[in-house]
Amino acid sequence: MSERITEMLTAADRTWVDEVLQKAHVKLSKVRERSAAKLPSEAQNGVHDNKLEAKGNIGIAKGFWTNGFWAGMLWQMYAETGDERYKEIARFTLPILDECLLDMDTHDIGFLWLPTAVLDYKLTGDEGVKKSALAAAKWLAGRFNPAANIIRAWGAGDEKMALSKVDPPMRLAGVTIIDCMMNLPLLYWASNETGDPRYRNIAMRHADMAMQYFVREDGSVIHINEFDPDTGAYVDNFGGQGYGKGSAWSRGQGWGLCGFTDSYKATGKQEYLETAQKIAAYVLPNIPEDGLIPSDFRQPPKPWVQDDIAAGVLATAFIDLAELVPEQTDAYLGAALRMLHAIDEKSADWNPDTDPITLHGTAGYHLPGRNINFIYADYYYIEAIRKLKGHDTYLW
Ligand code: GLY
Repeated sequence: MSERITEMLTAADRTWVDEVLQKAHVKLSKVRERSAAKLPSEAQNGVHDNKLEAKGNIGIAKGFWTNGFWAGMLWQMYAETGDERYKEIARFTLPILDECLLDMDTHDIGFLWLPTAVLDYKLTGDEGVKKSALAAAKWLAGRFNPAANIIRAWGAGDEKMALSKVDPPMRLAGVTIIDCMMNLPLLYWASNETGDPRYRNIAMRHADMAMQYFVREDGSVIHINEFDPDTGAYVDNFGGQGYGKGSAWSRGQGWGLCGFTDSYKATGKQEYLETAQKIAAYVLPNIPEDGLIPSDFRQPPKPWVQDDIAAGVLATAFIDLAELVPEQTDAYLGAALRMLHAIDEKSADWNPDTDPITLHGTAGYHLPGRNINFIYADYYYIEAIRKLKGHDTYLW
């Protein structure tokens, strides 16, 4: 938001931030060439995978929900360094996403078009990418169900997903998840660009619903809620990617913390800021002393399942909140620094000859893919570090 955040850092932390960005630049200058024609989602044995080579429908290939983060990280580095090569490679992704927009039956549109089209537009003013982002916003707005005030999360075909398999089966037309708070900034952006309040109205109705149904009394956050899609009546909630029903999936706490903070920044609605602070009050005492974040704040002590993605998302939100809530600056900024230092010191690979930066992300407590690299962990890490420089490129 502003350079004030940098002034709040100690001299040692300011130096550390510069060092991390320098390490990132040295590494990514090499990685970008190896992955220039890829859509990476995770890395195995130090090498990015490529969703373009994935078999199956666009949900698991070209339109996979994390496909915007590689380009987003390159755009962040372009903003940081002015190195044109980042921009050239970042632009590989968007035409592929645009090609599949009309086949996409998911709320993840914001996760895809914000770090690609909106970030490009903010940095370059390119009118073509603005059109892509507005088309995506229209498609996302079409998922709103006014009976339940929800943006529908998943689509036809997703009944087969591990997360959807419950007894009795979920009616996916009425299902929404906390992650969707991160898609709302595409709608806020679209209203600002077009002057048409419909997008913002939809986003705020969804955010108001989420305050009521996702945030528990103790400030922890539910992952999945189901409503009757015809009447809007509440049906049930589910543990989703967390340990189980009633648990506190750490990334979901991050999506909520970041999502309500961003909805406050976009609308000025005080309850969103209060909700973010309520989630923060739950998260803060649950951050382990060593700053490494578990997959679920209520997971059993063993085995240790870590989520560097959650750490980056929580950190990026805490940095914003540190500025928005001056009486909590020390606590919020301290938490962000603890998590970001922990990754740099204990969970990062800065070797330019390997592709991943962060090493211990987890897809979901019960899903395959524990303690491995995910591209969005790297994205959020870089985004958060750039915020500490006070001149990040705000998206969410
Ligand atoms: N949005 C899905 C995830 O956070 O893994």
